[in-house]
Amino acid sequence: MSVSTRGMNHAVRVGTDVFLRPPTAADKAEYVKLRDVSETWLKPWEPTPPGEDHPPEPEVVFDRVLSTAESQHFRRFLVCLTQSGEIAGQLTLGHIYRGPFLNCIAGYWIGEPFAGRGYATQALAMAVAEAFGPMGLHRVEANINPENAPSLRVVKKLGFRFEGLARRYLRINGEWRDHQHWAMTTEDFADLAPTHPRSEPGPGAAAPRPDRSS
Ligand SMILES: CC(C)(COP(=O)(O)OP(=O)(O)OC[C@H]1O[C@@H](n2cnc3c(N)ncnc32)[C@H](O)[C@@H]1OP(=O)(O)O)[C@@H](O)C(=O)NCCC(=O)NCCS
Repeated sequence: MSVSTRGMNHAVRVGTDVFLRPPTAADKAEYVKLRDVSETWLKPWEPTPPGEDHPPEPEVVFDRVLSTAESQHFRRFLVCLTQSGEIAGQLTLGHIYRGPFLNCIAGYWIGEPFAGRGYATQALAMAVAEAFGPMGLHRVEANINPENAPSLRVVKKLGFRFEGLARRYLRINGEWRDHQHWAMTTEDFADLAPTHPRSEPGPGAAAPRPDRSS
């Protein structure tokens, strides 16, 4: 890890090829550009609430990501290249519920120019380590359209467990689509962590947080 890499001083977790860090207002232009060049690539997988058959403009997406980057129910990270600091994608641990559930749902995308290099797998492995470490959660869930072969491959590589098919679960690209539930718990992680891509806490890593009921 080189702390001179752009953004590395805020990294919560650092892997061989990518690191996770929170977004800042200064990231807007680069983030918007990446989503712009990846528009066709991302569109088939974008959530679209009823009445919105097109994903919001990249500027709107960024503003929402920034304003909810560290909130009660969301932790949002940029996935950045360890070598250069360039933004390659984004990962969210969302719908965080504490109390007796201690659960969150992971969502992620990698820009088209950076796809197929193992970055999503590394990013999700780091997010899981963050969820079960400093965030003190018990379960991380990923919900995936059965046609999304690359995303299914990502969770399978990390050892997530298939938990079943939810019919018309989420409105994606204008239609209610079935999704497969995949999940991992802290108990699974104890066995799986040694098989995951290696990473370490970064300079921006948070101290372990006490459990907060929500
Ligand atoms: C899903 C996504 C995040 C994966 O990112 P990525 O950085 O390319 O993922 P990785 O390189 O870590 O792993 C992808 C795996 O899928 C495999 N893959 C790619 N295309 C595939 C296909 N059409 N069929 C089967 N496997 C495929 C790759 O070979 C790789 O597996 P491998 O390491 O065994 O070779 C990326 O494709 C993306 O952003 N897609 C659009 C948004 C999206 O789908 N988000 C997830 C919603 S649940």
